[in-house]
Amino acid sequence: MTTIERLLPDGFLDEALRRDARAGLTATPKSLPPKWFYDAQGSALFDKITELTEYYPTRAERSILREVAWSVAGLTGARTLVELGGGSSDKTRLLLDALRSWGTLGSYVSVDVSESALRAAGDALTAQYPGLEVHAVVSDFEERLGLPAAAAGPRLVAFLGSTIGNMTPAQRAAFLARVRAQLRPGDAFLLGTDLVKDPATLVAAYDDMAGVTAAFNKNVLAVLNAQLGADFDLDAFDHVSTWNAEAEWIEMRLRSAADQDVRLPGIGLAVHFAAGEEMRTEISAKFRREGVDRELAAAGLAMGSWWTDPEGQFGLSLSVPA
Ligand SMILES: C[S@@+](CC[C@H](N)C(=O)[O-])C[C@H]1O[C@@H](n2cnc3c(N)ncnc32)[C@H](O)[C@@H]1O
Repeated sequence: MTTIERLLPDGFLDEALRRDARAGLTATPKSLPPKWFYDAQGSALFDKITELTEYYPTRAERSILREVAWSVAGLTGARTLVELGGGSSDKTRLLLDALRSWGTLGSYVSVDVSESALRAAGDALTAQYPGLEVHAVVSDFEERLGLPAAAAGPRLVAFLGSTIGNMTPAQRAAFLARVRAQLRPGDAFLLGTDLVKDPATLVAAYDDMAGVTAAFNKNVLAVLNAQLGADFDLDAFDHVSTWNAEAEWIEMRLRSAADQDVRLPGIGLAVHFAAGEEMRTEISAKFRREGVDRELAAAGLAMGSWWTDPEGQFGLSLSVPA
């Protein structure tokens, strides 16, 4: 049975959305943080993205996990698996199976901002893994990490899907330092990072032919319409995916197709978009092994293992408190 815990005070996420919308829509250039994509519809669209031909990261990371989950389980001997931003917890099953086969696993804790994704994943996992304690934590891991202090150790903290790439370098440094501060001796951190590769492959992964990523991108506007009573016309924005070679990240943006005014009564704001104006909705940084090693070390984490898929598209690292 899944237990749901809400770590943040009542109304915290609603207030954070209002704050982010106000700050992002009054900034130049405009931007919105990616965590607001993930209402029920956004989480479902993300799951569809993971099945797209163009979206290689999920396939590549899964292929690594198939090869190494057993070693990860043996190396860590984890009794608790904690996953940050677990979403549908799909690839997680490879870790759960491996930890079960070593006979160490007692509980799985998933921390995510999307309560609908947590509920769906929790129900599926409790049905599939009888006896497994599944604990869902609704939190913003950039505010409160949600690592369960009372959970049996050793704990394996997994952060998959290259979700870390959605953070800027400064946000990553702060986040990794917080992860490190909450790890105890014997705990380990498993991090999935998408790797730098040819720009055409990268751009296509965020701009599929079927338009699923475009719908996902525009969903943030639907969230603002639903939560703040805004009147964004989703058809009046175009999806943009572009490679920033200097920063080595993909940027997803929404480009206004016309001169338009949008009202957001929930925050008492009206904003103007010029025709062609672009608003950034996500970055997805791409990594190199040396950079991952360096960022982990700067946070006080020592990388013990590094694995990639055969094509070298995606990297998975296992680190421990230094
Ligand atoms: C890119 S998806 C990855 C999902 C899954 N881990 C995978 O590998 O396919 C990012 C996940 O992190 C969650 N998420 C994004 N920002 C978050 C935040 N600040 N706090 C908690 N969860 C967040 C989303 O709801 C979503 O489930």
